Amino acid sequence: VPAAMARFFFLLLLTLFSTAAALKRSDFPPSFLFGAGTSSYQIEGAYLEDNKGESNWDVFTHIQGKIMDGSNGDVALDHYHRYKEDIEMMHSLGLDSYRFSLSWSRILPKGRFGTVNPAGVDFYNSLINGLLQKGIEPFVTLNHFDIPKELEERYGSWLSPEMQEDYTYFAELCFKMFGDRVKHWTTFNEPNLMVKLEYFSGKYPPNHCSSPFGKCTSGNSSTEPYIAAHNIILAHAKTVDIYRKNYKAKQGGSVGMTIYMRWYEPLRNISADHLAVSRAQSFEAPWFLDPLFFGDYPRQMRQILGANLPKFTKGEKQLLKNQIDFIGINHYKTLYVKDCIYSPCDRDTYNGDALVVELAERNGIPIGKPTPVANNYVVPSSMEKLVMNLKQRYNNTPMYITENGYAQISNSSTATEELINDNERISYIRDYLTYLGYAIRKGADVRGYFAWSLIDNFEWLSGYTVKYGLCHVDMKSLKRTPKLSAKWYSKFINGYKQID
Ligand code: NOJ
Repeated sequence: VPAAMARFFFLLLLTLFSTAAALKRSDFPPSFLFGAGTSSYQIEGAYLEDNKGESNWDVFTHIQGKIMDGSNGDVALDHYHRYKEDIEMMHSLGLDSYRFSLSWSRILPKGRFGTVNPAGVDFYNSLINGLLQKGIEPFVTLNHFDIPKELEERYGSWLSPEMQEDYTYFAELCFKMFGDRVKHWTTFNEPNLMVKLEYFSGKYPPNHCSSPFGKCTSGNSSTEPYIAAHNIILAHAKTVDIYRKNYKAKQGGSVGMTIYMRWYEPLRNISADHLAVSRAQSFEAPWFLDPLFFGDYPRQMRQILGANLPKFTKGEKQLLKNQIDFIGINHYKTLYVKDCIYSPCDRDTYNGDALVVELAERNGIPIGKPTPVANNYVVPSSMEKLVMNLKQRYNNTPMYITENGYAQISNSSTATEELINDNERISYIRDYLTYLGYAIRKGADVRGYFAWSLIDNFEWLSGYTVKYGLCHVDMKSLKRTPKLSAKWYSKFINGYKQID
């Protein structure tokens, strides 16, 4: 026993030493962007100000019982009025880049069925100009979940092919108005997770589902997520086509898509579980990326879903190929997978019996360190595996880690100091960056990392109870305070030789 203990401590020290002492900014390429992210609905507030139209999330959060703490984004962090202060904060932290999204309903209150809202355009111009004046690169997401409610009401938003037209209209307008200064665009944030929450489990608006987990009055969980995804993929391809034909030469930017990517490990070392991992993976990033690189859905998806998966026409397949300049990776989670054939599938299943994600805690096998948020285990080595996997599958297309971060839970009795002294977040970011560095050393073309999030914000169904921010926000005064993690990140970015 003493020998085993000595070995344990030796390995522990080695792990601590090798991760804590190793990380330097110079481990990353000189042009690598270090930043932090937010999204419009989660921080802006001013939900009806200056002619902004209502979004699907404005409507949804106003329905009683939808959001855990009864909150909404009406005021949020009031970024709409405090953006200058927020830019100042980013500047003082020394961020290279800021990832944020545009509110479609602030720019086009009624989508393409109405006129452009000049006040909305002014807001984003001021934000972009303010960032550039401080040397901060804007990294813009065109759509991060919120859409004008008009488009939902007219024809059920993403279930209708009409939405492709709505989206390209909006995107082209943004290229015209902001593309002289914005050089990094992502079309969608996590569309794979979004359609699942909207049309499979029905937890996000428009609350469609027929799955056993949701309480929905309409929807079809076996087809709708795939129809919505199909329209999103085509909207993306058409948008990139427009950009490349009419804007790229003049503006010189690039357009990518951000996907929610978990890393999966087989629960048991048996081939059935390895196969289940490969199915789980193909239903995540390749669902969207394979069509946009190779012109069609992954073979496994086509086989498993059969007629439930829409088909691309010949012409569409041609249009789809190679329509990604960079891959945006949102990575938080590692999960075990086991084959459903041998046991009942009861969670996260959205492909009949084909795939299941078995959570570590259910099996009593820890996969990484737990965090305050259920099932969010810390498994930094997955970052390297994920990036290397994408490098191989997509021919080392440039990649950005568009989100990675650590959540704290807060309730009325949580002390502010506890939230601000976020040492766990420091370890989390440092360790994930360490493994990202290993992937880069092995040749992966990763060009940036954005911590989620710049500030504590409205965490969708969890309201303000879950906090991902590098900076704390007092919910009464809305005063921003950098947490320890913000200070650590800042020191790291600003090139201190070694961080401990
Ligand atoms: C995913 C989403 O893009 C973002 O909006 C969310 O707040 C974070 N990840 C954390 O859940």
